[in-house]
Amino acid sequence: MNTQIFPLPNRADLEISVPSREASQTIGALLVGAGHLAPENVQRILDYQKKAGLLFGEAGVAMGLLEEEDVQRALALQFGQTYLAPDSGLGNELIAATDPNCAAVEHLRALRSQLMLRWFENDARQAALAVVSPGSGEGRSYITANLAVLFSQLGKRTLLIDADLRRPRQHHIFGLPGRIGLSSVLAGRAGWDAVCEIKPLPGLWVLPAGAIPPNPQELLARPGFAKLIQALRASYDVILVDTPAAENCADASTIATRAGAALMLACRDATSVPRVSALAEDLRQFGVTIVGAVLNGAARA
Ligand SMILES: Nc1ncnc2c1ncn2[C@@H]1O[C@H](COP(=O)(O)OP(=O)(O)OP(=O)(O)O)[C@@H](O)[C@H]1O
Ligand SMILES: [Mg+2]
Repeated sequence: MNTQIFPLPNRADLEISVPSREASQTIGALLVGAGHLAPENVQRILDYQKKAGLLFGEAGVAMGLLEEEDVQRALALQFGQTYLAPDSGLGNELIAATDPNCAAVEHLRALRSQLMLRWFENDARQAALAVVSPGSGEGRSYITANLAVLFSQLGKRTLLIDADLRRPRQHHIFGLPGRIGLSSVLAGRAGWDAVCEIKPLPGLWVLPAGAIPPNPQELLARPGFAKLIQALRASYDVILVDTPAAENCADASTIATRAGAALMLACRDATSVPRVSALAEDLRQFGVTIVGAVLNGAARA
């Protein structure tokens, strides 16, 4: 992925962890526990690590005793990241969980840091953030899903609401049945149990869109949606909301207005500046705070 964030993030905000010698021993224990390293080889690696001035994982890989992939997984675990195997049953778009060390996820972490400063810690009244963009296929669902994973990895109780009641995708990304969801709650046919806990990703919950209703705009414009967001704010630290393309219907403005804050997404080579500006202006007129803009370089728009 080639996601650029404007303004450019302060590199000091990125979470870069350098394992200490003590941490290396824990990595050894983690690798032994996971069955990737024989206990008798831990000391051999530590000795070689000292001699060669390498990190534990590097030394183990250099000695042919460890696989790079297993070291990355142990490091991720050690530093509190969830590391899912790509075949975990969740969709393969959740790179924040399946490939937490790749450059694309580093960009998303920088975006998370920006959001923490500009949105989350700045104004507690804007507890929900709608991810919006003018056109179809610009990457809203992908970015929202991965950001939600990253917020949950910070220890924030995170809820992702799929408010795209026209072409919902979050149930697919998170491997949920998706029959019951927001549309059912707004229609009064379901309650809190429509919110799904994502067990492999602690601290993350998803309210899928549910069955596609015939009247999405009406459902979202009802006071029930605003009340729902207010009520959910009491239970979650972070609420991210996926939206449909803003140019195709009024849903995105309605959702962003209820949320109070929006993250603007633009797709490289697909979203023109005037379209983004027009949407930003519309949202501002509805009183929505645009907390930032992201240029998504890899969406298949
Ligand atoms: N940064 C990215 N890196 C890799 N793939 C991406 C990226 N952003 C989006 N995609 C891919 O592009 C496609 C469209 O993305 P997505 O569904 O998130 O867009 P959308 O704006 O939500 O579209 P829709 O208008 O259908 O709601 C998906 O297959 C997604 O996996
Ligand atoms: Mg989408």
